[in-house]
Amino acid sequence: MDNFSQELTSIWSFRDRGDWNNHKGDYPGNCSPRVIRNLLLKYTKENDTVLDQFLGSGTTAIEVLLLNRKIIGIDINKKALDISNCRIKDLNGNKILKVGNAEKLEISNETVNFICTHPPYLDIIKYSKDIEGDLSLLNKVDFYTAIKNVANECYRVLKFKSKCAIIIGDVRKKGYIEPLGFNVMNIFLSTGFLLKEIIIKEQHNCKSTDKWKEIAKQKNFLLIQHEYIFVFEKNYFK
Ligand SMILES: C[S@@+](CC[C@H](N)C(=O)[O-])C[C@H]1O[C@@H](n2cnc3c(N)ncnc32)[C@H](O)[C@@H]1O
Repeated sequence: MDNFSQELTSIWSFRDRGDWNNHKGDYPGNCSPRVIRNLLLKYTKENDTVLDQFLGSGTTAIEVLLLNRKIIGIDINKKALDISNCRIKDLNGNKILKVGNAEKLEISNETVNFICTHPPYLDIIKYSKDIEGDLSLLNKVDFYTAIKNVANECYRVLKFKSKCAIIIGDVRKKGYIEPLGFNVMNIFLSTGFLLKEIIIKEQHNCKSTDKWKEIAKQKNFLLIQHEYIFVFEKNYFK
């Protein structure tokens, strides 16, 4: 693996997303393995069970197995599972990858050591045409209802004092910001989680950045170029 170092502040920025092992940046809305590695090193130890219930192309699964943790990976779309399975096929370890819905996990209560996951950003990227339960097909109201179900499930399956990291960004609709990040954060807080960190991650390498910079200039708005990583803990108030 190339020059990796652990982040020490609440602002993360990776010009080079990282392409060691089978990581590729080709899945829509994929995440840099540097983000996942940082979170795993900070919040887990060897043999811990890590859940990613919005698995996509398996970035979390690859990192979990490279670091000798156990992965439970779930996605509503079988195509994502096929990609992930292909990317981890040469990695040894304890791996359960299956099709499922993050709103209703088939996982026992309090069995997971860490959740590291990355839901769709509303309908900005549609991950399927018509898969029932695909969050990227929902309108705003239904999306937030679904996120509440996801937060409840995160809380249920996590062990006490364990962490849950959610990667999420805001979106712009008809010129106005939909503060998806803060709204999702508040839903998790209302579920009972405590907030350990708010990390701002600068976005790089988006394919459409040049096109959007031009539109932003013409229409006088700022291009959103950051995402959030919220780290929650299942704990009681001090
Ligand atoms: C932002 S992508 C995850 C990308 C991933 N972090 C990566 O690096 O490849 C979100 C994923 O959530 C999946 N998804 C949407 N609704 C879901 C649901 N209800 N349950 C599980 N997965 C869902 C989509 O199929 C998509 O693969």
